[in-house]
Amino acid sequence: MEVVILSGSKQIGKLAADAIEELLRRKPNAVLGLATGSSPLPIYDELVARYERVGLDFSRASGFALDEYVGLPAGHPESYREVIRREFTDRVNIPPENVHGPDGTATDIPEACRAYEEAIAAVGGTDLQLLGVGTDGHIGFNEPGSSFASRTRIKSLIEQTRRDNARFFSGLADVPHHVLTQGLGTIMDARHVILVATGAQKAQAVREFVEGPVSAICPASVLQFHPHATVLLDEAAASALKLADFYRHTYDNKPAWQGI
Ligand code: F6R
Repeated sequence: MEVVILSGSKQIGKLAADAIEELLRRKPNAVLGLATGSSPLPIYDELVARYERVGLDFSRASGFALDEYVGLPAGHPESYREVIRREFTDRVNIPPENVHGPDGTATDIPEACRAYEEAIAAVGGTDLQLLGVGTDGHIGFNEPGSSFASRTRIKSLIEQTRRDNARFFSGLADVPHHVLTQGLGTIMDARHVILVATGAQKAQAVREFVEGPVSAICPASVLQFHPHATVLLDEAAASALKLADFYRHTYDNKPAWQGI
């Protein structure tokens, strides 16, 4: 796991966008795993800027959302399909038919989850997965206790996550209790994973998943087993790390050609 501590969100957005740009130039039909929430927004803004400025081309890329609420009607502004569209994919030239998400409106949920796994496999798997982390250590909506082998399925949100996400709704009562999420096993199959965490409210979760024991109680800790996981932090999110100076020193002295 590589930990990179940067001065702010803009720098995080640029570094992650560098990795995505390099991937798209090497593999124009790259498969991108897309997260919602606040953490990836600076990355999407930077990618949109590069699309507008230098024509960074997404025309052959595809995107797969990490998760989706169950029960929000199609087109609901807070459904993750809509959020991804609004925040990112409608702002670049990725074909709408190449953008996918788990179907939270499905009547047959297990079948919808199986179909989602198949759709990811059919395009050759995810090349680069973007992630945020919950204050309880979740990635996707894999809440504490999730199996490390899990695939896309329905999960119940814990109250802390519902409270954290209430800011996107008119109130806590409107936040769905259930979600569909790629499993930890699905996320671990991505060839490169970039997790972004910013702000002091993430410091404890970051400390636990980066430097604590690998345990289902902290789902993001599974990334310690990933062969290519990059963790991009601002100073506040990194503030509880024991080895922060070591991570800074390592990154500062890394050969420039290596990227992340
Ligand atoms: C979103 C997702 C969640 C968020 C996490 C952090 O698709 O899967 O795991 O990444 O809840 O959310 P923010 O970035 O809003 O703090």
